[in-house]
Amino acid sequence: MNRNELEAIEIQLLLEGVYRYHGFDFRNYAPASLKRRIWNIIRSEHLTTVSGLQEKVLHDPACLERFLLGLSVNVTAMFRDPSFYVALRSKVLPLLRTYPFIRIWHAGCSTGEEVYSMAILLQEEGLYQRCRIYATDMNEMVLRKAKAGIFSLGLMQEYTQNYLLAGGKQSFAEYYTAAYENAIFRSSLKENIVFSQHNLATDSSFNEFNVILCRNVLIYFNQLLQERVHKLLYESLGTFGVLGLGRQESLKFTPHEQQYEELVGHEKIYRRIV
Ligand SMILES: C[S@@+](CC[C@H](N)C(=O)[O-])C[C@H]1O[C@@H](n2cnc3c(N)ncnc32)[C@H](O)[C@@H]1O
Repeated sequence: MNRNELEAIEIQLLLEGVYRYHGFDFRNYAPASLKRRIWNIIRSEHLTTVSGLQEKVLHDPACLERFLLGLSVNVTAMFRDPSFYVALRSKVLPLLRTYPFIRIWHAGCSTGEEVYSMAILLQEEGLYQRCRIYATDMNEMVLRKAKAGIFSLGLMQEYTQNYLLAGGKQSFAEYYTAAYENAIFRSSLKENIVFSQHNLATDSSFNEFNVILCRNVLIYFNQLLQERVHKLLYESLGTFGVLGLGRQESLKFTPHEQQYEELVGHEKIYRRIV
């Protein structure tokens, strides 16, 4: 047995241990990026083997927290891919106008920038009051930040630029108050948002939605887990419900491809038709 094979066994044992002891299931994440992240954690914990990390993660709760944070990629931004929001505004919101009540799910919302962007869009289009937005992530730590709605002031220049490219209608600075190094977003934006923990790998559907955004999450999963999640998303959408995926994600070659039509194909916005 060579080193790589041994390491693959150690990684399997580590992920199995974490799953059985803590319930976090990384067993079907895409192997290459998972392995890279695991080694980053091993180095930052001053360890030298995967097995060493397994021991620490199972016996030291603080190490488990760092492990969870180290494994998940939480990179996000307000109005990330501005053209996606232009398409939401012009092609999706007009469909939603016909509904008396609108349910939206952000699956894998990270620290919430995507959710606040949606809230701003809905407010500007006069739809926010009839919306309930569910923002979920498996990671409690990022959810705490999302709930607070406080982001670094240093990022506001980039976010203002994104907002304008996304067709923003006001002055972006009106949505937050600057305090020291922070931008504190208006609390009216989170009035209709419910933040809660939900794991796409292990939890089931919890409502029926008119819109689901699951962007830049599926790329970290292997095919088996992607299929599980696509099934979950499909079952969680009402008929004619809209699904938005990330730039590098697609419904192509999934078992659900035929059950959707492309609403804005190049933005990975689909509509459930059956
Ligand atoms: C790169 S961020 C994407 C954030 C946002 N959707 C965006 O596109 O900017 C990926 C998020 O997916 C979350 N995630 C990863 N695996 C998950 C799972 N099994 N269930 C729920 N969320 C998960 C991570 O915690 C992370 O916050």
